[in-house]
Amino acid sequence: MFVAIMGYGVVGSGVASLLKKNHEHIVQKSMQNELELKYILDRRTFPGDPYEQIVISDFSKILEDDEIKIVVETMGGVHPAYEYVLACLKAGKSVVTSNKELVAVKGCELLEVADEHNVNFLFEASVGGGIPIIRPISQCLAANDIDEIAGILNGTTNFILTKMITEGMTFDEALLLAQKNGYAERDPSADVDGFDACRKICILAALCFGKHVYPDSVHTEGIRKIKLSDVEYAHSWGGVIKLIARAKKLEDGRVSVMVSPAFVQNHSQLASVDDVFNAILVRGDAIGDVVFYGRGAGKMPTASAVVADVIDCAKHMERKKFFGWKDSEPGYVADYLENVTSFYIRATTENAASAVASFNSLFGKVELLTRENAPEGEIAFTTEPISEKELSEKLAGLKDAKIESVIRITDY
Ligand code: HSE
Repeated sequence: MFVAIMGYGVVGSGVASLLKKNHEHIVQKSMQNELELKYILDRRTFPGDPYEQIVISDFSKILEDDEIKIVVETMGGVHPAYEYVLACLKAGKSVVTSNKELVAVKGCELLEVADEHNVNFLFEASVGGGIPIIRPISQCLAANDIDEIAGILNGTTNFILTKMITEGMTFDEALLLAQKNGYAERDPSADVDGFDACRKICILAALCFGKHVYPDSVHTEGIRKIKLSDVEYAHSWGGVIKLIARAKKLEDGRVSVMVSPAFVQNHSQLASVDDVFNAILVRGDAIGDVVFYGRGAGKMPTASAVVADVIDCAKHMERKKFFGWKDSEPGYVADYLENVTSFYIRATTENAASAVASFNSLFGKVELLTRENAPEGEIAFTTEPISEKELSEKLAGLKDAKIESVIRITDY
């Protein structure tokens, strides 16, 4: 059986090298006589690369070659990945992708097309890098009614926050290191502004709750505004700051989905997830809480998930794996302003006594936080649970302090 890879970047080259390194047992597990890489599609050339000879720039070669039964898409982005994947599925080829943006935006449609053409569209690598999560949710936890998922879904931001927390590195230094290590997306804004985590939680929410969640319906905040002072206040509160993506089923049939930095208590399973590691907590009615943990980014961990999907496709040429969800109606994702949570707030003021009095009267009693060497006029505190809408209304009317930072507090 022949395979093609579209996109010879970090993940694509990892897939090629893993297919070569563990060739014998991969072939054995695929239950085929052979699993051979026939083409690699990329606009660039790779002089001196072991696969130099099979690099092509013309997609139609893959599409028109009936020997190619499985196509790996590791190009990233929606276009032209979507057009290529769609064409491959329609041509009767199974497709494996690591492209979370593609699945988050077009997954519902591509799954339907795969179904119509009796081929597989698999995307284990699109969430959590090497961590098995798509299959465990759709197969091992299939008997559960899952009502909540929350996790650290972006390795780059977790790496950056860890470096800020443990080594006092600046945001820029830590980002540079993440890019050097090959964790960050081509455009690091996808990581640091939360879009990558947003795409991943959309995929998980669709899988768990059965309807497509479009990334543009999800309130998303990144970590750019997190300062070392916030990290210190989190420490004095008894926790750490993590970029948390979460999705919850509401009683009225809608879902609440959000990505934002959050205070996480030290005893939470998510607090000790450091560096590039990801962790995903799934809450099911029969299983209770289950946490999946592992390397969420990087060349070989992601290639591990892609190649496992290739093996699964090869094993299921005549049988379709069922991964599916329906499209959703407008308003399916509830407005984030309806969410109720506690908040951490940092502010600066000319008159601390009067500002604290204002905060107490606005929020009921607040819990003041301290840190060493805090500049004069800096106030930090946590609130009781309050709706996002009410919080922003109250802060809008504030006169005697300037709000520097607002971070949600989780109860995971
Ligand atoms: N840039 C992503 C991350 C890669 O840091 O998690 C894996 O999706």
